[in-house]
Amino acid sequence: MNPRKNIVILISGGGSNMAAIVEASRRGDWGKKHGAEVVAVLSNKAAAGGLVWAKAQGLATVALDHKAFASREAFDAAMMAQIDAFEPALVVLAGFMRILTPEFVDHYAGRLINIHPSLLPAFTGLNTHQRAIDAGCKFTGCTVHRVTSELDHGEILEQAVVPVLPGDSAESLAERVLTQEHRIFPRVVERLVLA
Ligand code: GRF
Repeated sequence: MNPRKNIVILISGGGSNMAAIVEASRRGDWGKKHGAEVVAVLSNKAAAGGLVWAKAQGLATVALDHKAFASREAFDAAMMAQIDAFEPALVVLAGFMRILTPEFVDHYAGRLINIHPSLLPAFTGLNTHQRAIDAGCKFTGCTVHRVTSELDHGEILEQAVVPVLPGDSAESLAERVLTQEHRIFPRVVERLVLA
């Protein structure tokens, strides 16, 4: 039985959301206040920029290349073994760009959350910013939600809204949304480790 609330973060890229959560946990002294701590960062890409940052912060890092596995099931089983070694109270998908098997999702039921760069249920899947622009949306945003085996569904925990401005590109819009991701994601993680 682990009395501490270990947080494990999964990334595939730059890891700016991961860094926002780690920094918020330190600034807010979650360790002392909630017994909560980000203990490890895992990635399906060894080259993920966020791994370098996490390592420099003294966090445990694990890279498992999904291409080295024969099936999605085999990759997810290996990930689960690695994650479980950290006895997580919460598993946070922060730009983790892999579809997860139902086995994985069930295994972490109630302790698995994701951030998605749209106002769900609109624009599940990829290229959300371009699709919001193409659809003529005046507003878009981001959503933190619980993960179920249906992609980008599951209970909505928090959302932030940003305007789509005339002349926006997918990149400029992504940047505006990302600023909000960094604001709401740590807030939800803290709320959940408090509960
Ligand atoms: C974020 O926009 C996230 O919502 C999306 O991928 C991006 C990851 O960014 N799924 P980062 O790796 O946290 O910087």
